[in-house]
Amino acid sequence: MRSVAIKGVKEFEVIEAPEPIADGTSVLVDVKKSGICGSDIHYWDSGQPVGLVMGHEFCGIVTNPGSRTDLKVGDRVTALPISPCGHCPACLTGNPQYCRETWTHASGLSLDHPGAYAPKMMIRPDMVIKVPDTITDEEVAMVEPTAVGLHAIHLADIKVGAKVLVIGAGIIGLVSAMFAKKEGASFVAVSETNEARGRKAVSIGVADEWLNALDPNFMNDVITKTNGGFDVVIECCGNAPAVSSALVSARPGGTVVLAGVSLGAISIPTAVAVTSELTLKGAIAYTREEFQTCIDLIANKQIQVLPFLSKTVGLDEVQASFEELTSGTSDSVKIMIDPLK
Ligand SMILES: NC(=O)c1ccc[n+]([C@@H]2O[C@H](COP(=O)([O-])OP(=O)(O)OC[C@H]3O[C@@H](n4cnc5c(N)ncnc54)[C@H](O)[C@@H]3O)[C@@H](O)[C@H]2O)c1
Ligand SMILES: [Zn+2]
Ligand SMILES: [Zn+2]
Repeated sequence: MRSVAIKGVKEFEVIEAPEPIADGTSVLVDVKKSGICGSDIHYWDSGQPVGLVMGHEFCGIVTNPGSRTDLKVGDRVTALPISPCGHCPACLTGNPQYCRETWTHASGLSLDHPGAYAPKMMIRPDMVIKVPDTITDEEVAMVEPTAVGLHAIHLADIKVGAKVLVIGAGIIGLVSAMFAKKEGASFVAVSETNEARGRKAVSIGVADEWLNALDPNFMNDVITKTNGGFDVVIECCGNAPAVSSALVSARPGGTVVLAGVSLGAISIPTAVAVTSELTLKGAIAYTREEFQTCIDLIANKQIQVLPFLSKTVGLDEVQASFEELTSGTSDSVKIMIDPLK
């Protein structure tokens, strides 16, 4: 089957990969839609690991339910793309995101579990979740990044009336901004280096204002606008300038949630965190409960995720889509892949 795999630094190739074979346990699906994630961009940027077929945000149709007797051929599903061990203290307390095995065999993030940048995929049965008929394939594929934002916001513990800054208006930033408002923040700003994305955050209504992170006066503006800094800052980029700006924008005693991922070590001014006595929290993935909550919120129309969807492309357009998403000028946010397009 045709699949998109990493070939080298910023380079994909469309390869002919073997189709998954039923093993009596795994759930096999035909992929309907697969989202391109900012984390996928980090792998593409690094060119590693060669041969990786990504795609961990997806909607599929069951073709073989494996050991899941509650599923049948034709059911529409998504899955937590992770591989927790199931028996460590983290797993037993409902926090598979802390499990040491969670990313080892993650779907679309490990060589042994190819992801949804392909027409078919094989999924660990206990991670598969059946979705209601009322949500579209695109919304189903958007559940995973939505859950990342919800988890970050839960950790941020936003008080009613709080002033919140989200750094970066990719999907993680936009979803976090959306949930910050839902939690009762009185002012939500988004900072961006890409003007088109910054403006979009405001036009789709998740942010009250966008701040130009390239403007040399950006930091002074932040402090003036908030009378001393934001109560909560959610960092959704992972690079050194972004994390540094997150620390500087928080008020003394404020909270900074780090959701952005950097694959390597970065240099940041920890003295700011010390002198302002900031609370720094990392946020990774989601709990199973948060993942299910996002399905319910979308199904019950309590949140709208389709405004974040920019377009749907075929496998041959994945390389161009990554180039567009990293251009720094495009207002596209979530680009979805339809492997049969
Ligand atoms: N913690 C988790 O569980 C988790 C899950 C998914 C993604 N991520 C990470 O979250 C980050 C965001 O993901 P995404 O899909 O939204 O990515 P994305 O690449 O679409 O968005 C990042 C945005 O940050 C902007 N940006 C870059 N430098 C900036 C700066 N200095 N100031 C302000 N904005 C800046 C970029 O222009 C871009 O729009 C990535 O690092 C990704 O790996 C984390
Ligand atoms: Zn992702
Ligand atoms: Zn575990």
